Parts: sequence; structure tokens; C-alpha cells
Amino acid sequence: MLRCELGLTGTKFGCGIGVCGACTVLIDRSGNASGRPVADQACVKRIRDLEHAKIVTIEGLEGDLGHALRTAWIEYDVVQCGYCQSAQLMAAAALLMHTSLPNDGQIDEAMSGIACRCGTFPRIRKAIHRAAELWCLKRQHGSTPDILCRKDSKAPP
Ligand code: FES
Ligand code: FES
Repeated sequence: MLRCELGLTGTKFGCGIGVCGACTVLIDRSGNASGRPVADQACVKRIRDLEHAKIVTIEGLEGDLGHALRTAWIEYDVVQCGYCQSAQLMAAAALLMHTSLPNDGQIDEAMSGIACRCGTFPRIRKAIHRAAELWCLKRQHGSTPDILCRKDSKAPP
């Protein structure tokens, strides 16, 4: 539905049976604008069960959080083949919506449902820490330039 009928091809199709996580999107079933969505697998959802839900795909990952994640992903050169990365970004967004400064264990748990055959997990973890920092400082200081958000002056490895 997302890819073939709505043309939202940023969401990838992998296994189709709820195992690989490549199809992860944000789903908000709260029915109001203030709800916090969860990351979930689109391929095993039935449309009739999502009648009043709000669904956000990678195409809709915008605003300060989306910018923080994209900035961090680029800084840490996270992407390899890229196939899993839409899902990784959506899961990271959901994590930061619920836990503003997650530790390594919380990151690993939140990202554990999405396979990455290229082994980008170490860079994903670093990028999530960086995105959390950027997003947090953005909320505290408005339009704080990125250079002031760094804890140190070293470029990411
Ligand atoms: S495509 Fe693998 S979990 Fe959905
Ligand atoms: S970047 Fe290739 S599968 Fe994750």
C-alpha cells in the first residue's frame, strides 16, 4: 500500500513477514495530535486496524528532530548500501520522542528489530547519541548553530 499505491517508496520491503524491520514506520494510534507514535512494521499491518491511526514514513520525517537525525547520520557517515536506513531512522525518531537522551542499552533495544546486513550498528548508535544532543540543544536554545552543540571540537570518526 505505502509503496505501490501511495508512491512512498522510502519505506522498504524486505521479508514481508515482520522479521527484518525494513518496513518500519511511525504509527500513532492515540487519535490526537499530541500522541507519541511508536515504530512498527508496516508489512504485517492490516489497513482496517489502522483506521484512525496517523502513519509517518521517512518522507514525513521533518522538523527539528528530522533535521537532527539527518545531520547526525551524515556526520557519522552511517549509510552503507542504504536499504535498511529508512527504517533505522524511523526507529531512532521514535526512540528520541520517548527518551530524549538514551543510553547505549536503550538504543540497542530500540534498534534491535531492524536488521542491517552491512553492519552499520556502531555508527547508528553514535549517530543517535549525536542526534539526541542536537535535538536537545535545539529545543533549549532555538536556532543554536551546530558548532555550539558539540561536546568537543573533534570531528566524528
Ligand atoms: S518487510 Fe521485513 S518486517 Fe516488514
Ligand atoms: S546499510 Fe545496508 S542493510 Fe543497512
